[in-house]
Amino acid sequence: MGFRKDFLWGGATAANQCEGGYDQGGRGLANVDLAPAGKDRFPVILGEMKMFDFDEDHYYPAKEGIDMYHRFKEDIALFAEMGFKTYRLSIAWSRIFPKGDEKEPNEQGLTFYEDLFLECQKYGIEPLVTITHFDCPMHLVEEYGAWRNRKLVGFYENLCRVIFNRYKGLVKYWLTFNEINMILHAPFMGAGLYFEEGENKEQIKYQAAHHELLASAIATKIAHEVDPENKVGCMLAAGTNYAYSCKPEDVWAAKKADRENYFFIDVQSRGEYPAYALKEMARNGIEIEMETGDAELLKAHTVDFISFSYYSSRVQTTDPKLLEQTAGNIFASVKNPYLEASEWGWQIDPLGLRVTMNDLYDRYQKPLFIVENGLGAVDVPDENGYVEDDYRIAYLKAHIQAMKDAVELDGVDLLGYTTWGCIDLVSAGTGEMSKRYGFIYVDRDNEGNGTLNRTKKKSFDWYKQVIASNGENL
Ligand code: BG6
Repeated sequence: MGFRKDFLWGGATAANQCEGGYDQGGRGLANVDLAPAGKDRFPVILGEMKMFDFDEDHYYPAKEGIDMYHRFKEDIALFAEMGFKTYRLSIAWSRIFPKGDEKEPNEQGLTFYEDLFLECQKYGIEPLVTITHFDCPMHLVEEYGAWRNRKLVGFYENLCRVIFNRYKGLVKYWLTFNEINMILHAPFMGAGLYFEEGENKEQIKYQAAHHELLASAIATKIAHEVDPENKVGCMLAAGTNYAYSCKPEDVWAAKKADRENYFFIDVQSRGEYPAYALKEMARNGIEIEMETGDAELLKAHTVDFISFSYYSSRVQTTDPKLLEQTAGNIFASVKNPYLEASEWGWQIDPLGLRVTMNDLYDRYQKPLFIVENGLGAVDVPDENGYVEDDYRIAYLKAHIQAMKDAVELDGVDLLGYTTWGCIDLVSAGTGEMSKRYGFIYVDRDNEGNGTLNRTKKKSFDWYKQVIASNGENL
């Protein structure tokens, strides 16, 4: 028993949080480049503060990231040393289409990822590619209003055609949109949406979501046409909502919060808008403009597997204002009194991972893939750059045990597990470097100082033996 023989162990990163080289190789500017570190980050990623170009007053950590653009060979060699079977990374759209609406792609961008995939192939590492991890070329934001505009579907389709054809034989696993439900919570970072005063945000967000869902179905269609070996997944920021008490109203609040997230996956996996969402939208005066053929496309091209990130469960109650709140992956939650929390207030709930896996598997009956999980913590390296990160090992160990229980005891079909930020990178939520998730330490601080040298942490050797034993030795 245990994990499948071909279980895909590995780690995950996103282009804008690690590559840097924001203006190199013909790359165009993207929304994700413009999220500054510091107090203005949140208003910017929420689409409330306009930041369409760099200014002198802010520091933009994505510009250089951890310079993986130049160091990917060194980094992939380290992943191979840990025994990675897969490496999840994302393609920066504006490297392939700098403006987003060109007819012809940028060859330098295509070559960059080709070299990277060949490097993975050298070590027998299967790439798992997120087509868009929050990024959208700024030209599409400024000229078209990003995903609020249906034209984006066509531009995304071009991107998909190009990359599926070019990387045929090199990449088999694809994710269409990272954390697609994040469009509701961080609309500028998640989908390039910026709102003018007085605009109906909910209407815009759900219309943009429809365009993404459509684009996702079209991508799935093309991926299967180009290579029947291709496997396409959706990607949800997951974490089951618990009711704060057994008061029926709390249970109902938890169910509603779950559905707000499941809505996206219901469309991507079942192929149609669920009844509860249509009713809720109608009640709130949200009208989705659809064209003839949209419903058929959604129905015909559903995903092959369900991928998700899991950092914590969440808690709901009828009156959250009465209770203490805690931070979480972008959206806050009521504090669960039974759980410990990370230094950033994210609550730690390994059993919640088993609950979440069971919920998703019961609902969709498709293989699952955990593509993000991990602990963001402050690491203090010694003079050799070594970090004794026992706290990270403890976190991962407990979560891997929970996922093992879901597989062994509950029969969930799980394709693989990639920990978030396998090498330290820029935090999406805060823009800090000090919120570290990696097995590999990167010498860089929150202001951009440091040598960028890579060193192994204690967890590096620990994860290596977890992989070597296919999860037997935790
Ligand atoms: C997920 C994102 O929301 O969580 C990642 O897909 C992100 O991009 C990760 O980095 C962890 O969040 P944070 O805010 O700690 O970087």
